[in-house]
Amino acid sequence: MHQDLQDEMKDIFQRVLKDSWFVLGNHLEKFETEFALYIGVKYAIGVGNGLDGLKIALRSLALEPGKKIIIPAMTFSASVLAALENGIQPLLVDVDAGNCLISMDELRNSITPDVKAVMPVHLYGNPCDMEKINQLAGAAEIYVIEDFAQSAGASFQGKYTGSFGKINATSFYPVKPLGALGDGGMITTNDPALRDKCLKLRNYGYNGKYTMELMGYNSRLDEIQAALLGLKLKYLETWKMEREKIARRYLQNLSGNEKIILPFQEENRSSAFHIFPVRVQKRDELRNFLEDQKIQTQIHYPVPPHLQPGMKFLGYKKGDFPVTEKICDTELSLPVYPGLSVADVDRISEYIHDFLRRNS
Ligand SMILES: Cc1ncc(COP(=O)(O)O)c(C=O)c1O
Repeated sequence: MHQDLQDEMKDIFQRVLKDSWFVLGNHLEKFETEFALYIGVKYAIGVGNGLDGLKIALRSLALEPGKKIIIPAMTFSASVLAALENGIQPLLVDVDAGNCLISMDELRNSITPDVKAVMPVHLYGNPCDMEKINQLAGAAEIYVIEDFAQSAGASFQGKYTGSFGKINATSFYPVKPLGALGDGGMITTNDPALRDKCLKLRNYGYNGKYTMELMGYNSRLDEIQAALLGLKLKYLETWKMEREKIARRYLQNLSGNEKIILPFQEENRSSAFHIFPVRVQKRDELRNFLEDQKIQTQIHYPVPPHLQPGMKFLGYKKGDFPVTEKICDTELSLPVYPGLSVADVDRISEYIHDFLRRNS
């Protein structure tokens, strides 16, 4: 992806070096405006990474410590950490076995007076049903905060993820659909008061240069990253179409084989295909077999947050979220990135069929 952009990227390096203004400057302001416009929100606030984005966004809502936020059990630990670092209790719920996203029944049944927010996670780049989530949250008068770390560019009913919640956050970790050359993240919201609070929180809690109003953090998106991300944003739609083409080819090649569960496309949703997750019984064997053919795969994720040693204190145990645990035992992420050729997708698919034929 970067090879085609080398000249433009070098121009950016030189411009930032010449300006010699590296933190909180014009490049960030410009990128925030462009990103907000792209997502379809009024404001975007650049931060140091996706976890900080979620943490600061949640902090801006000023939930009472000890209150609860509903989070899908099937996510990356960062979603849960963002709550914990705010003193908010994560209430994990299982996901839908079909699309691996927060289960609407679980969500509906878990809302109690102590629950003040829900954090839908658009896992693998696939958007959650934001219409239903906003309906449920609206009826219960709880906040929605989207974790769209994996889904920049994905849409639900024609609207981009990151535009549905009261306040939301994404990640620009290098491999994400829109990736920096290092860490980065962005908060999105339509609420001017929350925006102002986040602007302060990311900069030690300072209002301007000399007055500290809040106990804040140091979490800002650097000028160099903002300028590079601004360039890459122009290509995001094209890259998304390429990922989608690859995904469709996998779906076409692999459908009909009952030994593999494929991500399914739901109406009115357009996935960012950050990840192409398949599920097979002999996941580790298939992974080794593909590795032998020099095909790299990943697992997202082998261990869910509730079974991580660092989260033991939450009191969850194996068996608490059977659907999530099954996904973690069987999921394999196939290669999907702009530039992967159709011939390679066909070859990978053939290897998978071959493996599944011999391993029933
Ligand atoms: C679902 C989810 N939430 C949050 C994050 C945190 O983003 P970052 O790595 O930029 O802190 C990630 C990134 O890996 C993620 O996948």
